[in-house]
Amino acid sequence: MAFASFKEVLTDGLKKGYAVGQFNMNNLEFLQAIIETAEEERSPVILGVSEGAMKYMNIEYTVAMAKAAAAKASVPVILHLDHGSSYEVVLKCIRAGFSSIMIDASHYPLEENIAKTKQVVHACHTLGIDVEGELGTIGGVEDDISVDEKDATLARPEEALRLVQETGIDALAPAIGSAHGMYKGDPELDFDRLAKIRDLTGIPMVLHGGSGIPDEDIRKAISLGVSKINVNTENQVAFTNKVREILGKDANVYDPRKYLGPAREAIKEVVREKMRLFGSNNRA
Ligand code: 13P
Repeated sequence: MAFASFKEVLTDGLKKGYAVGQFNMNNLEFLQAIIETAEEERSPVILGVSEGAMKYMNIEYTVAMAKAAAAKASVPVILHLDHGSSYEVVLKCIRAGFSSIMIDASHYPLEENIAKTKQVVHACHTLGIDVEGELGTIGGVEDDISVDEKDATLARPEEALRLVQETGIDALAPAIGSAHGMYKGDPELDFDRLAKIRDLTGIPMVLHGGSGIPDEDIRKAISLGVSKINVNTENQVAFTNKVREILGKDANVYDPRKYLGPAREAIKEVVREKMRLFGSNNRA
């Protein structure tokens, strides 16, 4: 199949009360694990690619691999830019063949966030490409972006309404207390804020920093309008732990397939668990 529509997939989740996982793609094994599990679980799926991962994999390889996976798949697959930092990067990704875009201008003052996001939405919508925007800053570390928890600011509902109305974004990632990377304790999500933003904007919402959030908080966030949840760190940890375990047990292993294969299986188990928790299984 060709890549699926971001907006259609998220809107179905919002209507029916489930969330679609965005699983970040860091190499071929991540891609294979994510797609194979989506097929087995009959789940729509979003492949998220950060700018750092794109640099690592090369943009042409990234799109070619994702296209090959989507072409073979019988479930909806989306190739989404994660935290696009500029109009230029967005254009490069559209030209390369990404099917949807996130523009993250959340670290700019509101007026600038609106202006930058609006420019991206205009270009993308002309081409039929859907856009995710961000408001407030999400803490933690992702690639080269590091936001101290103390500096993370939560999204203000009235500003969320302005960002949505003035830019025409298709999905909104409001900062509500989640963070990228591993949490030190349990995260404290601001559900009242999430509910207010949902009531004001009515568009699908995205929860970043999905790794390490307790199951009951995930379920509550979905019940309050979150229809996309991003997960990366838990997959990275599962992958790396398996590689470490295998190499630690046997110093004579030299064939990468002997440790990358089992590491790929380890990702599949995380993705399966998340798809079932998000309720996206059996929706495709
Ligand atoms: P985690 O790495 O915390 O799962 O967050 C992923 C994410 O939000 C990507 O945008």
